[in-house]
Amino acid sequence: MLRRLHPDQPDGFAFTPANQAWAEAQIRKYPAGREASAVIPLLWRAQEQEGWLTRPAIEHVADMLGMAYIRALEVATFYFMFQLSPVGSVAHVQICGTTSCLICGAEDLIGVCREKIAPTPHALSPDGKFSWEEVECLGACANAPMAQIGKDYYEDLTAERLSKILDDLALGKVPTPGPQNGRYASEPAGGLTSLAGGAESPHKGYNASVELARGIGDTVRRIDGTEVPLLVPWRAAPGHEDGRRPTVLRAPLASGADDLTRLEGVDKPLAAMLNTLGIFHFAQIAEWGADNVAWMEANLEGFKGRVHGGIWVEQARAFASEGETTGAHRVRNENAEH
Ligand code: FES
Repeated sequence: MLRRLHPDQPDGFAFTPANQAWAEAQIRKYPAGREASAVIPLLWRAQEQEGWLTRPAIEHVADMLGMAYIRALEVATFYFMFQLSPVGSVAHVQICGTTSCLICGAEDLIGVCREKIAPTPHALSPDGKFSWEEVECLGACANAPMAQIGKDYYEDLTAERLSKILDDLALGKVPTPGPQNGRYASEPAGGLTSLAGGAESPHKGYNASVELARGIGDTVRRIDGTEVPLLVPWRAAPGHEDGRRPTVLRAPLASGADDLTRLEGVDKPLAAMLNTLGIFHFAQIAEWGADNVAWMEANLEGFKGRVHGGIWVEQARAFASEGETTGAHRVRNENAEH
């Protein structure tokens, strides 16, 4: 398929402030002179923000990375994951048309898309809410036929079920992703034949992928950077070399991570960011000195004004003494990095 830039392009592109901070953090993963290595994550973020990759977005990313525009264009036009045409404001539907899905009914699903969205792929529905395309195997062959809608998989589909999903999405609802025929995951359609765990199925609720999708809740949402943060300052930003990195852990202790949202100003995204930096326990924070506090405040990009390192240390000491953790000595001795 010929992949070209869309004839109608917007005048400009800018990352949201949070996405800009995220993009700058990605660039710092790479050594000086190798910033172009970040081209795919930055293009992807631009697409997650806008829904598709515009020419101004590609050029903006190229400018950030000091690349010639043609080099960034080569990447954007090479990979099919980059959408070069406007996509539906609600959802872009990707129907798997490879062998397993095809023999299990993918053509019926494409028929639904042709009828309900647009006769041809990469075209908008009359109301602008949807677009669709056929894609190659998405790796969920045991749950064929399937479609990726936004960021999640809808599996074991029928034409009727896909039609209903599109109707629900048009109404602002987000149907639960995963198998649509009552299967838990990809066990035999007739029920478990081994490891059945007695008379009752051991499976309850949703499988892990579906639980995660439900928890994140961004199936068809654009990403503006204020969601669960992914900032990881591998290489400190200019002016962020203050202080000293505190003791961090590769993973929480076996007893499980403490609930860091108990700290002043810490919500779930900020707690997730602290986890990303290797902070899981009050006992870790309780040991921060002024230089550690300065380092954390300099490196918690995207959370300016909500970092109260000094207060956190006081609170963490109180919480740690309540027995929230198994003790600072274990934090020091188990799995610690410096
Ligand atoms: S063939 Fe459709 S997911 Fe593999």
